[in-house]
Amino acid sequence: MINTCLDLALLCHPVLAFLSIQRPKMQHAQQSKWQYFLFSFLSILAIRYAGTSYFTVTDEVLFDVCHTKDQPNPIASLYPMNATGTLNGTVAVIPISIKLARKLIPPQYGILEHAYRDLLPSFPKGMYPAIIQALHDHEVQAFGYQIPDFTRTGIEFPFVDLLGDNTTSFKWAPSLLMTADHEIALKGASDYGTKTFPSSFEPSCDAYRVVPDAKQPGTTYFSAKSANSGAASVTTLFSPVPEEPFPLSFFKNFTNQPTFADGKTCDNMIRLFNTSVTTAPNRIETVKGTVRANIFPFENEQEWRNVYGLRMDTAFIENNYLPCENFRGYGARD
Ligand SMILES: *[C@@H]1O[C@H](CO)[C@@H](O)[C@H](O)[C@H]1NC(C)=O
Ligand SMILES: *[C@@H]1O[C@H](CO)[C@@H](O)[C@H](O)[C@H]1NC(C)=O
Ligand SMILES: *[C@@H]1O[C@H](CO)[C@@H](O)[C@H](O)[C@H]1NC(C)=O
Ligand SMILES: *[C@@H]1O[C@H](CO)[C@@H](O)[C@H](O)[C@H]1NC(C)=O
Ligand SMILES: *[C@@H]1O[C@H](CO)[C@@H](O)[C@H](O)[C@H]1NC(C)=O
Repeated sequence: MINTCLDLALLCHPVLAFLSIQRPKMQHAQQSKWQYFLFSFLSILAIRYAGTSYFTVTDEVLFDVCHTKDQPNPIASLYPMNATGTLNGTVAVIPISIKLARKLIPPQYGILEHAYRDLLPSFPKGMYPAIIQALHDHEVQAFGYQIPDFTRTGIEFPFVDLLGDNTTSFKWAPSLLMTADHEIALKGASDYGTKTFPSSFEPSCDAYRVVPDAKQPGTTYFSAKSANSGAASVTTLFSPVPEEPFPLSFFKNFTNQPTFADGKTCDNMIRLFNTSVTTAPNRIETVKGTVRANIFPFENEQEWRNVYGLRMDTAFIENNYLPCENFRGYGARD
């Protein structure tokens, strides 16, 4: 933006200079005008080319444009005709009672308890794994067109029997806090029937931020607040731990279930765990922490402590607004 203005100034400058010396009154005035225009032209030129890094910093200070730490989308050129991007952030399992899950998930859909017990035989009896995701969507693009990054968070309900086949697991994602003013992302989610809450995030353009001087090194926080104050909020605090109560295969499974909100169409988000943003050593961290959330379909603010999850970045391919029926038996071959 600044550079565009400066370019415009540079372009117009000689014209202005020429026009204003057309009718000089005095020799002396003409000379000082020339000096003035030469000086100002060189000043603008100097500022314009003073170096990109200088202006990057200035932009940030002046306009609070933040720069994400996320690495580039590694699969954009592999799938140029598909929507691709990266999702960096925290995904955690929130055990709630099956009784509560049954109350929250619309009654027409069954819960595939045998599907998650198949993957997690030791999951506590009478409990159901709800999921929290707090993610930064980065370099989302298709056909060479890229949308601005955004952040989103919400609580999701995997292993839902949308088709009534007692086999195929779908993920119900009824509500999302999403970056306010990001019309494309907000509309993209609300077209599924998702309750969307335009929100502000801390940090505003990354997945999480390290807490300075935390008791446990590597502790990070994330918070989201709806612009409509009090409508929805989520905050998380997570620290790395050595134990891994849930295998990676469990996370791969539920993050890849076709996702719906009102059930009219399904979102096929394919998260890849085999690209450079995920596979470098120590890129997937097991974390444990606290989640506080005031979000539909929960009636009041909830707090869950000692919640386990993963902090990671993954590339994704997304196929939107598909008939849910297309996914009958999806993933069964894995
Ligand atoms: C994910 O986000 C965190 C926090 O901004 C950052 O430190 C990390 O480098 C990111 N990971 C990748 C692979 O981009
Ligand atoms: C890419 O998009 C096409 C057309 O929508 C779709 O048929 C294909 O399955 C997508 N590729 C992947 C890997 O999902
Ligand atoms: C669903 O499938 C599971 C596992 O195959 C089986 O134990 C259960 O009885 C089935 N439920 C219904 C309602 O058919
Ligand atoms: C990564 O996994 C996806 C699907 O899980 C597969 O289609 C792709 O070929 C894999 N890529 C590499 C480089 O192994
Ligand atoms: C998840 O695991 C269940 C149970 O093993 C399996 O039937 C299903 O195909 C898996 N889904 C995905 C998306 O991997």
